[in-house]
Amino acid sequence: MRCWRLVNDLLDSNGNALNSDNMRIERVWAMPNKHTFDIKPIRKLIEEEMPRPGFSVDPFANKQKLASVTNDLDPQYDTDYNLEAIDFLKIFDTETVDFVLFDPPYTPRQVSEVYKRLGKTVNMETTQSSYWSNLKDEIQRIVKPGGAVISCGWNSQGVGKTRGFKIERILLVCHGGNHNDTICVVDKKIQSRLLVVDEE
Ligand SMILES: C[S@@+](CC[C@H](N)C(=O)[O-])C[C@H]1O[C@@H](n2cnc3c(N)ncnc32)[C@H](O)[C@@H]1O
Repeated sequence: MRCWRLVNDLLDSNGNALNSDNMRIERVWAMPNKHTFDIKPIRKLIEEEMPRPGFSVDPFANKQKLASVTNDLDPQYDTDYNLEAIDFLKIFDTETVDFVLFDPPYTPRQVSEVYKRLGKTVNMETTQSSYWSNLKDEIQRIVKPGGAVISCGWNSQGVGKTRGFKIERILLVCHGGNHNDTICVVDKKIQSRLLVVDEE
C-alpha cells in the first residue's frame, strides 16, 4: 500500500534532505568589539550563512548595513527604521524572510541601559526573559521554512527547538579570560515534506 508520511527535515535549496544531526561547533579567538559584526570570525560566519540572493532583516542593526532591511531603536543610527525591535519584526508578513541577524542587548542590564539612554520607561516587562522570547516568537513567524537565523549573545539557546528550529552551527568567540565569549548560533527553520512510503 502506498502511503504519505509527514516528516520534518532540513532541506537544501533543491529540496534534498540535509544530514542535520551533525551540529558544527567551532571555537576561535578574537579581540572584543562592541560592534559584534566587525569581529572578523563573526563577519565571516555571516558571509558564509547569509543567503544571496535572499531577503534578510536586522532588528538591532546599530551601524551595520548587512541586511536587506535594518532597524535600531536609537535614532542616531542611519537604519531603515528606528522602531522598537518587536514592532519592526511585526511589519513583515508570515514566512517571508530568508535570514535574520539577531544581535539584541545580551542582558536585562543592557536592555535598561539603552532604554534609559533614550528616555524610555524601564519596568519588569522590559527586563524579564519575555523580552527575548517575544522577539523569538516574531522571528519564528516571519522566517520561511528552511530560512536561517544567526543569534549572538552569551548563551547558545538560538531561536529554539520548541519554535521548530534546529541548530546547525555554533561559533564560540573567545575574547580572553576577562571577557565573556560571544556565542553565535545558526539555526534553521525546519520544513515539513510529504514522503511516499510503500507499506506491506
Ligand atoms: C548588541 S548591539 C548590536 C550591534 C550590531 N550588531 C553591530 O555589529 O554593530 C544592540 C543594538 O540594539 C539597539 N537596541 C537596543 N534595544 C533595542 C530595542 N528594544 N529595539 C531596537 N533596537 C534596540 C541598540 O541601540 C544597539 O545598537
